[in-house]
Amino acid sequence: MPATVVIGTQWGDEGKGKLTDLLSREMQVVVRYQGGHNAGHTVVVDGEAFALQLLPSGVLYPSITPVIGNGVVVEPKVLLDEMDMLTRRGIDCSRLVISGSAHLVMPYHQELDALTERHLGKNKLGTTKRGIGPAYADKAARIGLRAQDLLDAKIFRQKLDVVLKEKNAILAKVYNRLPLSADEIAQRYLDEYAPRLAPHIGDAVGLVQATLAAGQGVLLEGAQATFLDLDHGTYPFVTSSNTVAGGACTGAGIGPRQVDRVIGIAKAYVTRVGAGPFPTEATGELADMLVERGHEYGTNTGRRRRPGWFDAVMMRHAVRLSSVSELAVTKLDVLDTFETLKVCVAYQAGGQRYESLPWHQSVLHEVEPVYEELPGWKTSTSEVTRRDQLPPQAVRYLEFLSRQAGVPVTFVGVGPGRDQVVRFQEP
Ligand code: GDP
Ligand code: IMO
Ligand code: MG
Repeated sequence: MPATVVIGTQWGDEGKGKLTDLLSREMQVVVRYQGGHNAGHTVVVDGEAFALQLLPSGVLYPSITPVIGNGVVVEPKVLLDEMDMLTRRGIDCSRLVISGSAHLVMPYHQELDALTERHLGKNKLGTTKRGIGPAYADKAARIGLRAQDLLDAKIFRQKLDVVLKEKNAILAKVYNRLPLSADEIAQRYLDEYAPRLAPHIGDAVGLVQATLAAGQGVLLEGAQATFLDLDHGTYPFVTSSNTVAGGACTGAGIGPRQVDRVIGIAKAYVTRVGAGPFPTEATGELADMLVERGHEYGTNTGRRRRPGWFDAVMMRHAVRLSSVSELAVTKLDVLDTFETLKVCVAYQAGGQRYESLPWHQSVLHEVEPVYEELPGWKTSTSEVTRRDQLPPQAVRYLEFLSRQAGVPVTFVGVGPGRDQVVRFQEP
């Protein structure tokens, strides 16, 4: 059985956690393959919310093996706290496997992330300040520390001493900060975190490949989203990993032919946290309505998300970049009270109409959305469990999104709860 990939198709927080949880029922292994604790994935079970940052959202099922793949950057303390939180709430995390090749987020990464943002001033990216960019930068510069280094104190200390010398010089000379102590970091990582994480660190690629070879289900859970992708997103207002479906291959150690289903998660509208272009961004009363009805505040950072209308131009691009085979449209219920709804079907800039994403980003900063208006349904959908119970205007809206995107809408979210999902079209 080939693998299934879940990705965000917009700017994050589309409901990847919820869909991953739902699909995990049929899976053996669920893998997080990129990003780090910049992610916040919410799963709501019987009214109880679980906010996950590093563990895959399938962890709530005792039948699955949760995996943190080589493409993830892991802050050990955050991971241990998350495991403790789940254990206290009756979730068994003992099956967790962490790839030995996953890189570690170190204290200097978090400090440098915050300092760089401050240095950028009004040009700041609005990162989560979790050290994600600096950790991936060190990975690319080949000076990162990996999960497997926690199992070899000598190597860990050797690498730390080398890298910290440079980081401390930057902290002191560029930012006028106090140096960090190698002894203190080594004590925390090797004496506190390593003994607890050691039983989990191992051969994640071997496990994923063996599961696929046995014909069992593997689900690959993306973090962030298409337009935060390091290569394909609205650079520099992006995260530092590949969030498109291709990232699932490199970040989990599988080949493209081992994936046969790519589920793109899309809100019925759009939100974005942090800075960067956003063609359909709403302002004023409309923005307040979407934020309040959608509870659009960051799962971990608490930041208010910027809302706007559904953007089909971006969606078509996202579908192509990841060969998305179907869409799950979430938060339809947030639109329940609207008289009319708008969907951006093209852009207009400099007297030209764009049906697809302009390749030059300066154009994206200038475009005016071309909207089609559709009637709202003005009735609650949150109790709906079957397609034939959806108001006709909602069916029309979803069919319109599906036609615009060029792929079927298979799932529709009508509330945060695990079971608040409607099967809409066949894959
Ligand atoms: P993720 O980062 O993609 O996993 O998404 P988040 O968990 O950060 O944000 C999605 C938010 O919307 C969470 O609070 C979810 O509980 C909630 N949510 C997910 N699906 C739905 C839905 O269909 N309707 C409503 N009202 N809320 C939803
Ligand atoms: P999930 O997985 C929404 C955004 C930040 C910032 C940019 C870079 O929950 O959808 P970073 O800390 O990664 O260097 O920040 O990316 N960002 C997210 N926005 N959802 C997320 O994750 C995000 N992770 C990062 O707000 O604009
Ligand atoms: Mg989130």
